Amino acid sequence: MKKIIITVDGPAASGKGKISKYISRKWNYKHLDSGILYRNLAYIFLQNGINLNSTKEIKKIINKKNTISYRKSKKLRTEKISKIASKIAVHQFVRNFINKFQRKFIKSNLKNRHFVIDGRDIGSVVFKNANLKLYIDVSEKNRAKRRYKQLIDNGEKSIYPQILKDIKLRDKKDKARKNSPLVIPKGAFIIDNNSSFRNTSLQINKLIKKI
Ligand code: CDP
Repeated sequence: MKKIIITVDGPAASGKGKISKYISRKWNYKHLDSGILYRNLAYIFLQNGINLNSTKEIKKIINKKNTISYRKSKKLRTEKISKIASKIAVHQFVRNFINKFQRKFIKSNLKNRHFVIDGRDIGSVVFKNANLKLYIDVSEKNRAKRRYKQLIDNGEKSIYPQILKDIKLRDKKDKARKNSPLVIPKGAFIIDNNSSFRNTSLQINKLIKKI
């Protein structure tokens, strides 16, 4: 049976997760968060005290791994892990490992037929032939405000100006990297997620109805 894929890409704290979860519930799609894969790797590197400036050390760990988990947890959402994830995501061999895992996961998943996958390069690199591609657009300030609230709700100490600075830095890194930079995928629809969620969901549902 042919699988149906919706990709949701966008910058940090643009609401990709919330939007994907919404699509998953409303339309009965299986939600996969590719950022979690980078965060899980970041956590492993942190736990093992890997020198992140040493490509050799990072490669050694990657070569030993043959799977990675989509499992979410609060410890993966800290700013420290966000920064490490973004740092290791520049390496093509890290991306190859994660992309291969994602494609295999979808292919061998017999339980689900519809998938909504969010990340930075899902519509532009990983699933170029997706049935619907969304790119989430939100101003830097709105994203920083939302991330700040998320961290406070998570019980993490957080300062708004610092969060804004971190978001700008992570955007710069994600957009400027040589390998799979964050771009608006070819054929993607730009979703304005600056105002109410109702407005966002109206834009999205209109597009999903047409698949
Ligand atoms: O939730 P947030 O948008 O802050 O980040 P995330 O989606 O969990 O991703 C964390 C980091 O992993 C990003 O800053 C990217 O550097 C990297 N990432 C990536 O390069 N490609 C993806 N498909 C997903 C995440």
